[in-house]
Amino acid sequence: MAATRLTEPQAGELGPTGRPYSAFPDPEPLLEHGPARIVAVCNQKGGVGKTTTTINLGAALAEQGRRVLLVDFDPQGALSVGLGIQPHDIDNTVYNLLMERDVTPHDVLYKTSVDDMDLLPSNIDLSGAEVQLVHEVGREYVLGGVLQPLMADYDMVMIDCQPSLGLLTINALACADSVVIPLECEYFAMRGVALLMETIDKVSRRLNPKLTIDGVLATMYDSRTLHTREVLASMVNGFGDKVFHTVINRRASGRERHTQKITVYLSAEELLDLERARLALLRYGAAADRGRIVREAIAVLLADLDARGMDSLLARRIVSANRADPGSDAVADGIGQGSAHQERATGTTESA
Ligand SMILES: Nc1ncnc2c1ncn2[C@@H]1O[C@H](COP(=O)(O)OP(=O)(O)O)[C@@H](O)[C@H]1O
Ligand SMILES: [Mg+2]
Repeated sequence: MAATRLTEPQAGELGPTGRPYSAFPDPEPLLEHGPARIVAVCNQKGGVGKTTTTINLGAALAEQGRRVLLVDFDPQGALSVGLGIQPHDIDNTVYNLLMERDVTPHDVLYKTSVDDMDLLPSNIDLSGAEVQLVHEVGREYVLGGVLQPLMADYDMVMIDCQPSLGLLTINALACADSVVIPLECEYFAMRGVALLMETIDKVSRRLNPKLTIDGVLATMYDSRTLHTREVLASMVNGFGDKVFHTVINRRASGRERHTQKITVYLSAEELLDLERARLALLRYGAAADRGRIVREAIAVLLADLDARGMDSLLARRIVSANRADPGSDAVADGIGQGSAHQERATGTTESA
């Protein structure tokens, strides 16, 4: 059973990685701060827990008296949103810091609600930097350069990387002391990891000799299922002691969002509609699988809901559906339980 344990694991006790836990001493209180150590949280796969790891590890370090700076280095801005920032309401982001000479880190810095944990936020603007940086001299070192003036003020800088191995991620690796690699205990977790390792190796040989791998963090672990135990075993098999003793359990109640794969339950008619949409898009030259179409449709709905509130098409349809059938809430949740005609539509894709 994956019951929540009430006690800390004891040194010597066998952990989920099959190795005994070692003794973790409490971190010493610090008498002075800086210079910071930079850790890049990196995996080119989305939905593996990079952002969640960055926030939680950052907050835990701050709780231990460390001064922590989080850098949102993903144009999706999930870290910024997770820390309560509306990414479209901010004037200066990491993008401005990278691209504009007169913007200083202090123009961009945000205090978070966690004491001693600050944030350099991002939004979609950052996606432009990837293209613009290509033409810069020393394009791999731009992030390292702009972080430099902050190093004395912090003990730890954590960079939440975007799900790609593009120039932004290379910038993070080129200035980092080390990398933490979250890997989801799911099928295909190891797919793409060889490329990530190769990239880290290249960066450490060509751009940043001090770069090391802190470790592989197994996330979304569920001890009740055989396959997550198997995936964890294969991680330990592949990376040995580099797999952290601590694994992150899948939260039963956590809302899950996967950018890589999606499983939706649809009636046969709905599945046909989805397939019609897919074929129609294909005729316009836009190839997308069913999962992608559903994810994009959700994004469109959310934008419409943001822009129009209860006037959005989604809200209006739900209101009128509820009027027609006041007991339909459970079904509106999209998890209609096991009715005979339901079919399973699964679209599994690599990120676009
Ligand atoms: N331990 C966990 N248990 C359940 N859901 C999780 C857990 N960690 C993260 N999630 C959820 O999984 C999704 C992806 O996590 P996230 O940290 O955003 O990944 P990434 O930054 O790698 O894309 C998010 O919706 C998040 O809330
Ligand atoms: Mg993220």
